[in-house]
Amino acid sequence: MDKFRITGGRPLKGRVSISGAKNSALPCMAAALLTSETITLHNLPYVRDIITQRRLLEDLGGTVLTPELRTHKINASHVEVFEAPYELVKTMRASVLALGPLLARFGKAKVSLPGGCAIGMRPIDLHLAGFEKFGAEVKLEAGNVVAYAPPEGRLRGAEIHFEKVTVTGTENLMLAATLARGRSVLHNAACEPEVADLADLLNKMGARVIGAGTPTIQIQGVESLGGAQHTIIPDRIETGTFIAAAALTGGALEIKDCYPGHLSTVIEKLREIGVEIEELNPTTLEVSCRGRLSASNMTTQPYPGFPTDMQAQYMVLMTQAEGVSVIDETIFENRFMHGSELQRMGAKIFVNGRSATVSGPSALTGAPVLASDLRASASLVLAGLVASGETLIDRVYHIDRGYEKIEVKLRQLGADIERVREPVAVPALQPLPG
Ligand code: EPU
Repeated sequence: MDKFRITGGRPLKGRVSISGAKNSALPCMAAALLTSETITLHNLPYVRDIITQRRLLEDLGGTVLTPELRTHKINASHVEVFEAPYELVKTMRASVLALGPLLARFGKAKVSLPGGCAIGMRPIDLHLAGFEKFGAEVKLEAGNVVAYAPPEGRLRGAEIHFEKVTVTGTENLMLAATLARGRSVLHNAACEPEVADLADLLNKMGARVIGAGTPTIQIQGVESLGGAQHTIIPDRIETGTFIAAAALTGGALEIKDCYPGHLSTVIEKLREIGVEIEELNPTTLEVSCRGRLSASNMTTQPYPGFPTDMQAQYMVLMTQAEGVSVIDETIFENRFMHGSELQRMGAKIFVNGRSATVSGPSALTGAPVLASDLRASASLVLAGLVASGETLIDRVYHIDRGYEKIEVKLRQLGADIERVREPVAVPALQPLPG
């Protein structure tokens, strides 16, 4: 297992380019299952989850060509398997996004039911209730969700009212509805830019989706979908993470190939606490921080609210801010595991259920720490950049799932960070018998 060794205290300076959004790329890759024609996706981030999603598509019988590192040409004309096994789903929950397309195009799908994870229970009951509304028969067999389209072989469009906003739930049902008979309406749908990006791709494929990016999405089902080319939107969470890195280290960064419009709430909040952020043009931000940060309460919310995926990074900012801040996590029930690791580095954090109180500023000191999930690991990297001395972050495979070469990007900006590879144990040679 790789680790990151970071020696903190260096201000980050220079220019960094933002990669494509993992959480947009994953559903867009799943969309390729809806057609026998080729889907070409550009600007895919080079991260572990994309490799896992590719593996899933190939296991189902699809072919994936990579003419360039960040371009995939996906063809699902020969899908013969309709199953996402536990081995894959347990490493990446987004594999459940195969359910909607498989059910809609082939009338059957079997996907292992994901269990809870480091940030909460994360059930998929709302996805399944939606498929049932589309006329599917959904059963749970030996830990797998097994779903069949109605006897006529095609899902039926329906009105769905989500009782809770769910991002992949909205995407899964939107994917399924594109090939359903008749019209579907998704009410209380997730408004995240990744949902709108998926709808853009689907419409290029010939789907009829209106309203994605708002709480009401209308989908008129079509008989079949065709090939398309699509460029994935920039990753707003990676953008926010680099803004936080510039602010924490008192650096000055130009962040390019991003889309500031997708993180207006984050930019507004970080300006409020004292980070200087300027939009140089529609895809470039200039970030610096000369003065002290000031504490401010924050509550995570579905888009366009402050994203839960930036909560851990915000907590590190609050450890360096003057005053007391309360952070409320409303999306996931257990997303403060980074809190105890940050405490080990000297932060003053008190966690009570879904609320964390941070008193700052605290002088952080380097320590060995353990990453528990993707965004928690990003927060530990940020803490390591600001701490005095050496921080050793274990289990950085979490960060490799969603940040493209973060240590390389940070090093180019002047950070003292290196990946430490654990030597692979080679068994001792045994003498040959005889
Ligand atoms: N929920 C249910 N039932 C469902 C679905 C969701 O109760 O059927 C609950 C969840 O347990 C959670 C809340 O609804 O409490 C919101 O979950 P959501 O379904 O929106 O989360 P998700 O779709 O599983 C995506 C991102 C996450 C991000 C969340 C929230 C992808 C692949 N993942 O997860 O990203 O935190 O939306 O914005 O898009 C990450 O990138 O680090 C990450 C965890």
